Amino acid sequence: MPTTTALHPLFAARVAGIDIGQPVSAADAAWLRDALDRWSVLVFAAPSITDDSQVAFSETFGTLETTRAGANGAGGKLIVLTNIGSNGQIAPPTDKQVLNNKANQIWHHDSSFKATPARASLLSAREIPQAGGDTEFASTRAAWQAMDPARRQRVQDRMAVHDFGWSRARVDPALMTAAERDAHPPVRRATVVAENPYGPALYLGAHARSIDGIPEAEGRVLIDGLNDFAGSGDFVYRHHWTAGDLVLWDNRAVMHRATPFASGAERRHMVRTTVECPPTVR
Ligand code: OGA
Ligand code: MN
Repeated sequence: MPTTTALHPLFAARVAGIDIGQPVSAADAAWLRDALDRWSVLVFAAPSITDDSQVAFSETFGTLETTRAGANGAGGKLIVLTNIGSNGQIAPPTDKQVLNNKANQIWHHDSSFKATPARASLLSAREIPQAGGDTEFASTRAAWQAMDPARRQRVQDRMAVHDFGWSRARVDPALMTAAERDAHPPVRRATVVAENPYGPALYLGAHARSIDGIPEAEGRVLIDGLNDFAGSGDFVYRHHWTAGDLVLWDNRAVMHRATPFASGAERRHMVRTTVECPPTVR
């Protein structure tokens, strides 16, 4: 049986006893799915991970997303987050991939803006900088539990509009083409995720633009305030990467964000696979 060691008082655990490079048994798959529901963030040591073994392991958790046009890895199952250009050298700050990394520094749930949102993401560290470049995770389930009833009441049973063109334009208008924006029209998502057996979670993040039934300006203050609250110290686990780490997280229970590093001087190369939500919870 695999084992867990808690990394934070409220969520996140390190897992031992699973070999990422081997097919996962039915018993281990069931254990892993329950552990993901329960802990929201799972950290594995996977020093020999390859693109193929990452894809195979990720499929334990469901159907994988196809990477969107405009992202590094478009059309395949991998999304590559790197500051290394195709010539093998560190890319300039104007490079689209480097700008994408900057956008990732805002608290978000992966793919909350897509017609099919993401259940889980798996990110492996292939090259890491000597300093910085940690990834932070905020438990929006713990945040929901800690919210006072009046604040909860303001948002629950409502739909938020998630709008990728809007959220990316806030970071840098050069981040996406009109065609990329048009490929992701705004979608409506419940403000509170209800399907997890371990409890409900707030679901807003960077792409949440407005909340139906709440005037736009008031909604902005509410959304920013809730993202700040969930992202405040008590609910945050900060992962300091070791090369070969694989981190799996539940996008329906945590937000996450990248943190800065010397992107013009040090190399950072990460590979992500993303698991779609099953049709029952879309
Ligand atoms: C991601 C992401 C953050 C990071 O892979 O979805 O937001 O630290 N990554 O690279
Ligand atoms: Mn992300």
